[in-house]
Amino acid sequence: MDQIRIRGGLRLQGRLQISGAKNAALALMPAALLTDEPLTLRNLPRLADVDTCGHLLNQLGVSTHIEGARPDSFGRVLTLRAGRITSTTAPYDIVRRMRASILVLGPLLAREGLATVSRPGGCAIGNRPIDLHLKGLEALGATIELDRGYVRATASRGLSGARITFPTVSVGATENVLMAAVLAKGMTVIENAAREPEIVDLARCLVAMGARIDGIGTERLEVEGVSRLHGATYRVMPDRIETGSYACAAAITGGDVLLVGAERETMGATLQALAEAGVELLPEPEGLRVRRRNGLAGISVQTAPYPGFPTDMQAQVMALVTVAEGASILTETIFENRYMHVPELARMGADITVRGRSAFIRGVGRLTGAPVMATDLRASMSLVIAGLAAEGETLVRRVYHLDRGYERLEEKLAGVGADIERIAGDG
Ligand code: EPU
Repeated sequence: MDQIRIRGGLRLQGRLQISGAKNAALALMPAALLTDEPLTLRNLPRLADVDTCGHLLNQLGVSTHIEGARPDSFGRVLTLRAGRITSTTAPYDIVRRMRASILVLGPLLAREGLATVSRPGGCAIGNRPIDLHLKGLEALGATIELDRGYVRATASRGLSGARITFPTVSVGATENVLMAAVLAKGMTVIENAAREPEIVDLARCLVAMGARIDGIGTERLEVEGVSRLHGATYRVMPDRIETGSYACAAAITGGDVLLVGAERETMGATLQALAEAGVELLPEPEGLRVRRRNGLAGISVQTAPYPGFPTDMQAQVMALVTVAEGASILTETIFENRYMHVPELARMGADITVRGRSAFIRGVGRLTGAPVMATDLRASMSLVIAGLAAEGETLVRRVYHLDRGYERLEEKLAGVGADIERIAGDG
């Protein structure tokens, strides 16, 4: 298994390209199932999860054609075409690799009246149930059965609009119900919808395909079902979590980096959290410039649905404040087990105590490099960030987590002056 070796202590400087958003792409690609015409997605990131999603869609009968496949180019163009759906089953083997596979449930059901998707299990960050996805689709008239680990959803007479109030905010459930509702008969109102920018991206793409959606970007989505959607070309939004991650990387080294293609509008409370820590993201014509005012300061922040502070930034910001002046408190409210990076950061010299849902971090003068590993994507990124500031060598194992969500990480960081390389095998 590959590893990433970092020799820390270098100040990052220069330009770093931000890729298309993983979590937007993973919702936009299944939207291709909603029409027999081609859906072209621009600015698609080159990531293991995007490949897995493409592979799943291929198995359902969707053809995929990629342009810009040159290894040195960012922003691929993918054309998906679901001319005829040949299978309505998302098999265990793919769903166990990528939970976001559940996002084919809504569109398959809307288009074919039938969808069978392996039920995703728990994962490294928590239990992650799918009850809200299923209740939402039931409200639209689907019958749901659970059979030998599979969720079987049927709507032999089609779906009908309904009023759905989510008891908690869920990104995936909002996306699934939205994709089902656009082809349902009549009006659907989704209350307490997630407002994440990736949902705005999905809704805008659906509108470009002919869907009628009001309230985009708010917690109340009104969808007037249409009988068919058509093809479209849509550009995937820049990755706001990748942006925040590299902002932390630049800031922990005291660097000055221009995040090319990054967008301030979608950064939500990440901007305030970074500002409190002493890090600014200044808009420039080409993107956002990361600049640290002085030293890093301790912060107090809690994760929340958008526009709150994202759970997907918690680990990276924690790495940043391990070397801040003073103490920080980070509270995780979305996932029950998202502190897997804490013991690893501690191995690098960080001073962190977890009590319940909160992590108390006392800033230390310096971190020291160590062999470390993490069990999920964002936790792995936090170790890379810590490694960039640490004295000596850090070896991050289980690089496949990073490959799922950070396009060409080592190349991007080396491009701004980091001493970082991928070592094939166990080193
Ligand atoms: N939840 C339920 N029932 C459900 C669905 C969710 O109880 O049916 C709970 C979850 O257990 C969690 C909360 O609701 O406590 C929020 O989960 P949500 O459904 O919003 O998360 P998700 O759709 O599974 C997406 C991202 C995650 C990100 C979360 C929260 C994708 C592919 N994944 O997951 O991204 O952490 O929203 O913002 O969009 C990552 O990129 O590293 C990642 C984990």
